[in-house]
Amino acid sequence: MSQIDEIKSRIDILDLISESVKLRRAGKNYSGLCPFHTEKTPSFIVSPDRQTWHCFGQCAEGGDVFKFVMKKEGWDFKEALRYLAGKAGVTLTTYTPQQQEEKDAHERLRAQLEEAVTFYRHQLLNTADGQSALTYLREKRHLTDAVIETFGLGYAPQGWDNALKHFTAKGYSQQDLIDTGLLTVRDDADDPRNTYHATRVYDRFRDRIMIPIRDEQGRMAGFGARILNPDDVPKFLNSPETPLFSKSRLLYGLDRARKPIRATDQAVIVEGYMDVIALHQAGFENVISPMGTALTEDQLRLLKRFSKRIVLALDPDAAGQAAVLRGLDAARQSLDREGEISFDARGLLRHESRLQADLRVATMPDELDPDEIVQRDAEEWKRLIENAQPIVTHVMGALAAGRDLEDVQVKADIVAQVLPLIEDLPDPVVRDSYQQKLARFLRVDERALIGRQVKGPRTRRPRPKGEATTPSEPLKPKVAAVSPSHKIGAHCLSLLLRRPDLLYRLDRVLQEAGLSRLSPEDFEYTDHQMLFRLVRQSLEQDAHDADQYLHQNLPAALSDLTDDLLAKSATTNSLPLDPVDDRLLEDLFRGVIKIRRLGLDENINQLRFLQEDAQQQGDLRAASYLEMVSHYQRSRNALDQASLKLTERRQE
Ligand code: UTP
Ligand code: MN
Repeated sequence: MSQIDEIKSRIDILDLISESVKLRRAGKNYSGLCPFHTEKTPSFIVSPDRQTWHCFGQCAEGGDVFKFVMKKEGWDFKEALRYLAGKAGVTLTTYTPQQQEEKDAHERLRAQLEEAVTFYRHQLLNTADGQSALTYLREKRHLTDAVIETFGLGYAPQGWDNALKHFTAKGYSQQDLIDTGLLTVRDDADDPRNTYHATRVYDRFRDRIMIPIRDEQGRMAGFGARILNPDDVPKFLNSPETPLFSKSRLLYGLDRARKPIRATDQAVIVEGYMDVIALHQAGFENVISPMGTALTEDQLRLLKRFSKRIVLALDPDAAGQAAVLRGLDAARQSLDREGEISFDARGLLRHESRLQADLRVATMPDELDPDEIVQRDAEEWKRLIENAQPIVTHVMGALAAGRDLEDVQVKADIVAQVLPLIEDLPDPVVRDSYQQKLARFLRVDERALIGRQVKGPRTRRPRPKGEATTPSEPLKPKVAAVSPSHKIGAHCLSLLLRRPDLLYRLDRVLQEAGLSRLSPEDFEYTDHQMLFRLVRQSLEQDAHDADQYLHQNLPAALSDLTDDLLAKSATTNSLPLDPVDDRLLEDLFRGVIKIRRLGLDENINQLRFLQEDAQQQGDLRAASYLEMVSHYQRSRNALDQASLKLTERRQE
């Protein structure tokens, strides 16, 4: 749950407002004197169901807990958030001044890396030295000039001080160049016996193809550098771990792949940089790779922001029986060796369930890299990915490969390996279905498998260390987050975050139906309103990349909420988004009508109560309340008309 939803679930609006306003029961709601203006009879209503308040008097506005505190104290959203988080006991992740300083330093390093991209590109494209590298990329790797440009490939020339000279002449300090990893320090630099020290520092990358590595937002992080001369080692030299370059957090290619991953609702993980580039050239753009290290949960979590359906494309070594056994064996050895995604079935299953992702495995045939497969036959790549297997199924297959499945010993061995994996799965339905699969696969009676379990010491497997044992229960029953208008609002937002471009079409459809454009006020909750404003702004930038704008301008406080919403839209729409634009649009349109209708219904109910109250007390406001009711009723009719028309058109 996002921090904001956590806060909403822990703070009851009734408690909060009761601190300063005397409320009394009014049907399922509560009424009182509005704290924001002076009045003698109540026009202020609090709805515990929706966790909202509304003033039908002079203020004529309303909102959620955040809005209440903002209005009462004159605070902005951030201040209200801090206050309510403190009250709810939710720790916020925010920037301290020191972190801000760090951020600024990072900007400087990024700018330097960006210049390095230009420098290496110049070497590749415009120098005699770069010719052999360019020829290699074009002829040996069959890369087009367009793709070479898209991925910003470059060449680091031979020699020890090309980058050193170039960048110091531009005014960069050696320390900055060391910090980004462009320069490296001699081991013996500080040894006084060292008499041959011409330079203390020198170029890290020499005679290599330079592959810029960016974070998911497209900001420079570092380089992967491939040899040209086959005798050089290592084959790939990466930037060292720096504040910007973390191999366990970054995924190569994600800046380009994020949109295609969202559009296809699938992410494919391959092993190498060159695979990512070749697949992209062949039109498969939803592909990324780690950087020679085992996949981490951080990386999977990052990926899940874009799709929860993830396919691992493994070479036969990593996917095969030996690797599977190694992965099933006790504790995972340090498999972080360069150049192979390790296949650790138990670890992957754990990630899968913790992240609620869908992880599958595709095995590459004939000892080929994805790079070579797609160049041989693009259709083959497509098929391989379509046929990717769930982890447990893959393990069964790998363990059975080349063995005699009629042999009782073999069967027993496979059961012994696979059953513990199945028992680890958290979902009983999934567990059952895998048990059936295993039984069918080995052609044994399912009851025999289950019998085995019952006989065995079937105590609940102890949870692996480091896993939370008690889910953090909200202190109070969740309230705001379960109200229908909150849910529908979140749903519409999640679709719009994924496809901001649909907003214009939605506005047009609304206007054609005689209704107003979608506006922040349609959302009842402050955080939703803010996110919606940001979506609208991102579209109004003439920047080509609304998505990018949105992420760069997202307040820290809303970022995990956004992740939540994006993950939600990925699950509710398992179909790729593009072909179903019309359905999505209709979904949005109906959603908007529903939240508006819910809002009007609520207003009408609340007003009826106020009106009766006022009438009994002989308050003159009774008449104006009645007027408001009929105004809201007219709006409601208009909504019903519009949705009726849509249904009719559907049936034609
Ligand atoms: P591979 O050796 O499979 O290389 O390493 P590749 O990507 O297929 O490259 P080509 O096709 O031979 O040109 C796979 C990945 O492992 C990491 C790199 O990220 C590489 O892309 N790796 C490999 C290293 O980090 N260091 C190494 O020395 C080797
Ligand atoms: Mn390769």
